[in-house]
Amino acid sequence: MIPENVIRQIEAIVGPEQVLTSPEECWTYAYDATDQAHAPEAVVFPGSAEEIARIVRLANEHRFPVTPRGAGTGRSGGAVPIEGGVVLVLTRMNRILEINPADLVAVVEPGVILGRLKREVEDRGLYYPPDPASAEFCTIGGNVAECAGGAVAVQYGVTRDYVLGLTVVLPTGEIIDAGSRTMKGVVGYDLTRLFLGSEGTLGVITRIILKLAPKPAARQTLAAAFGTLAAAAQAVGQILTAGLAPTALEFMDRVTLGCVRELLPFKVPEAAAALLLVAVDGHPHDVEERAAAIARFCEEQGATPVLRARTAAEAEDLWKARKVISPALLKVKPNKVSEDVVVPLGEIPALIDGLQAISRRRGLLIPCYGHAGDGNIHVNVLYDRKVEREREAVNPTVVDIFALTRELRGTLSGEHGIGLTKAPYLKMELSEAAMALQQRLKRAFDPNRIMNPGKIFPGLRAR
Ligand code: LAC
Ligand code: ZN
Repeated sequence: MIPENVIRQIEAIVGPEQVLTSPEECWTYAYDATDQAHAPEAVVFPGSAEEIARIVRLANEHRFPVTPRGAGTGRSGGAVPIEGGVVLVLTRMNRILEINPADLVAVVEPGVILGRLKREVEDRGLYYPPDPASAEFCTIGGNVAECAGGAVAVQYGVTRDYVLGLTVVLPTGEIIDAGSRTMKGVVGYDLTRLFLGSEGTLGVITRIILKLAPKPAARQTLAAAFGTLAAAAQAVGQILTAGLAPTALEFMDRVTLGCVRELLPFKVPEAAAALLLVAVDGHPHDVEERAAAIARFCEEQGATPVLRARTAAEAEDLWKARKVISPALLKVKPNKVSEDVVVPLGEIPALIDGLQAISRRRGLLIPCYGHAGDGNIHVNVLYDRKVEREREAVNPTVVDIFALTRELRGTLSGEHGIGLTKAPYLKMELSEAAMALQQRLKRAFDPNRIMNPGKIFPGLRAR
């Protein structure tokens, strides 16, 4: 329990109107996009790095947990305050401090909504590529903390590839700058990258320097329906190895397609077993040629129809349908576990085959969709919590999925992180020595174990 007088001190730091403590309000900040929840004791909306530093110092003095949070769209429990304490909601720190076309950088606070940042950057003729499905709701701070990916990672890379520098309040209360606003930099260890994907366990990010790209001159989007998943996987392999440099190369399987079919801007036959969604960026002529070549590969694999988005609005509708898949899958079953495994590109067909075998063996539906172009497949285990057989089959199914992924030399998470939901399986990927080193790092940053405790390494004790 945080003593009453400490709550008063927090109120004195941020202003009493920026602190919530009623159970109803605390429960509002207990969740993220997983099915995990735990109410904090207080919800605090800080306005600056200095305020955060003072709160963190109090946390060390009185040993209460501090969990940073953006918009709560995370998919592994990163923002769930599983051990109570204070949730630091960063949405008030939502200024775009600078968009600088000469330096090709933007400087932002963590609470900026990604979609707003992307639009403001594009209004200046530039481009911030990362585009996770939650782009319209998620915050850039959360993107950095979880190293968000998304559909255009095939060409442009993930959040990590666009963060040049960070200001961070360390778990011990010091404020540091990591990285710089330059395109290169090798001064000391790469702390910027260490914070990328650290899930709020190593500090609170308060300022982010982002690298910007030029806005692509043109983009073509096309969709292709396949009679079998194997044919779609073949086409993916051909597109990737033919040097056609797709910007996005996404797929959905039959069950997934069924959940978003009516949102698509054209008719996809009921018989279709898979849909590929492809985007290509570049100069208008070049884009035209590459899109035509991709369409040909799809047709050669028997795809029908293969359709090009004729207008920007049609392309937008396609991507909108793609972005709502995750929640739409709940139409099929009331509960799901969503994984985001990645396998080497050549192993995608083996992963898909293996998943079908697991689904048959365990008797659960496992629809798949996602980022085929970089091997990052969203594997969804659907079940009904009220049906005992289904509920009990979930964990063994997840273990099977991770075992298959590791067998194929893949990784457990491409873009959602470990958080709470994948922590029990970490040993399937990290060796004992690698795990011990990571835990020593965590302790060096956070000796009193106050910063987002219970994540990644749940059992870790204070030093
Ligand atoms: C997506 C999220 C779940 O790609 O990562 O839809
Ligand atoms: Zn994704």
